This record gives sequence, structure tokens and C-alpha cells, in this order.
Amino acid sequence: MNYIMSLGGKRIRPLLVLLGADACNSDIDIALPVAHATEVFHNFTLVHDDIMDNAPTRRGMPTVHEKWNTAEAILSGDNMLIAVYDILLKNQYAGQMKLLSLFNKTAREVCEGQQLDMDFASLSHVTEEQYMEMIRLKTAVLLGFSLQAGAILADADARIQELMYDFAINLGLSFQLNDDWLDAFGDPAQTGKKPGGDIAEGKKTWLYIKASAYFDIDALWNEKTGTERIEATTSLFLENRLDGILKEKADEYAAKSLTDLQELDNSGIDTTGLAELTRFLQMRSH
Ligand code: IPE
Ligand code: IPE
Ligand code: MG
Ligand code: MG
Ligand code: MG
Repeated sequence: MNYIMSLGGKRIRPLLVLLGADACNSDIDIALPVAHATEVFHNFTLVHDDIMDNAPTRRGMPTVHEKWNTAEAILSGDNMLIAVYDILLKNQYAGQMKLLSLFNKTAREVCEGQQLDMDFASLSHVTEEQYMEMIRLKTAVLLGFSLQAGAILADADARIQELMYDFAINLGLSFQLNDDWLDAFGDPAQTGKKPGGDIAEGKKTWLYIKASAYFDIDALWNEKTGTERIEATTSLFLENRLDGILKEKADEYAAKSLTDLQELDNSGIDTTGLAELTRFLQMRSH
């Protein structure tokens, strides 16, 4: 548990909690434990995700199941989820029940998204809509929860909370599209993950869905595995300029999130930090 938490990461979920609380003029100190809880939860999902995805490295270091074993990784993850409840329940604060019930809904949705991600690998056909719904569940809802949690702690109006949630969902969709981009085309020295992991695992990402419209990727994947499959598939994506098209798609959702910020601005919320975070995430290389 300490190992994965000590490997750093961008820590954008706790940042969202703090930005949400700050934008709604709440005391940051009250938001700190909730911010901490979102990062522990995120790291729990990563420990289990790396087992599911057979990932050897994370943040440039061996994954927990590689360094120890699968049983210890499952149990450490389970324990981290319990630690999240310890942190969320330690003190009393405004909106606690609402925050806990939104957290439970979010945690359930993340599991659902993760299951869809696994299911898609063995489905013969996945649409772009199904993929977008899967990434909304596995990734975007936790960003939505994190930002709205800050607003809940500040006892902000329901409309403000809703706008913040919607903004973070679009940011999260853009974030996962960029994550898929980095998996295929990123520099492993920067991402800290094994390049082409999604391809090796037969994931039906946006790139797969687009490429399969004019190429029989399944035939290629039946024929090749491992490094050979990664190299052939990445070349195919690049020959068809899917790297640029995916980036445009990710930017499209980032632009949608910036439009959501406009509405928050109109409601008198200072969105400078959120806009800066959106732009940082669009340019990220890790
Ligand atoms: C990785 O999340 C998992 C996804 C939801 C795509 P991050 O890219 O936020 O990982 P860290 O915490 O910065 O390492
Ligand atoms: C992970 O998505 C989403 C969650 C952990 C819930 P990925 O499997 O794409 O994340 P990475 O690429 O391993 O970080
Ligand atoms: Mg993974
Ligand atoms: Mg995964
Ligand atoms: Mg990924």
C-alpha cells in the first residue's frame, strides 16, 4: 500500500477536490482528507487494474503484483478501499452523507466500467458509443466525483455542483482518450508503462474501433502476439494517421469541458485553475 502511494503520479483527483472547494470559497483544510481519499481510491483501482491488464510496470516501477504477487496485490487493493472509508468517516463535515452516497455510486460505476473494458476484449464488435460509455464509467466518473466533492464540502448550489460534475466528465473522457494515445504512441520513459500494453492485451480502444472499420485487425491479432503484434498494429495506426485523429478527438472533449467552464464563469465561479488543469492535461506526455 505504501509502495504504490509513494510512486507519485499526477495526483489530479485530489487536485480536483481542492480546486472544487477553493472555487466555491471553502476552506481547503476541510477538503484535504477527502482529497487524500480520492488518491487512495485511485491507487486501489490501479493495483487491481494492473493485475487485470497484466501490466509489468507503473510509474516507471514494477507493479505491485510483479513485486510481490497477485494475492498480495488483491488484498492490498481491498485494504486501500477500506482505508478510503476510514478517511471519509474520520471527521464530521457538511454534506458527508451526500458525499458518501455519491462516492459509493462512483465506486460501483468504476467496477462496471472496468468489467466492460475486460468484456470488450472478447466481443466481436464494439461501437464508438459503447467505448465512450465504458471510459465514462471506468475513468471519468471519478474525476466527476472528485470535483463535485469539493463543491459539496463548500455547500455550493446544486446547479454549480452539476456543472462541475459535467465539466469533469468531459475532462475525464478527454483524459482517457489521451491515456489510450499514450499507451500506443507515448514514450515509455515518460509514461512509466509498458508501450503497447492495450494492443498486447487485445483491448478494444478507440484506435482499434476506428482501424477495424477498414482493416481486419482481428486477423492480425490472431496471427501475431506480443512485440510482433504491437509493432504491426502501431504501424497500421500510424499509416492511417489515427494518432492525429485520436488527438483531435481528445481535444474535442477538452474543448467541451472548457465550454462547461464558461457556464460556471457566468455563475460567478473562478475557473482559472480548472482551465489551466484542462490545458495541462491536453499537453501531457505522462
Ligand atoms: C491512470 O491514471 C489510470 C487512468 C484512469 C487512465 P493517471 O494517469 O491519473 O495515473 P497517475 O496517478 O498519474 O499515475
Ligand atoms: C484504467 O484504465 C482505469 C482504472 C484504473 C479504473 P487503463 O487500464 O487504461 O489505465 P492504465 O493505462 O493502466 O493506467
Ligand atoms: Mg491498465
Ligand atoms: Mg485497464
Ligand atoms: Mg491505459
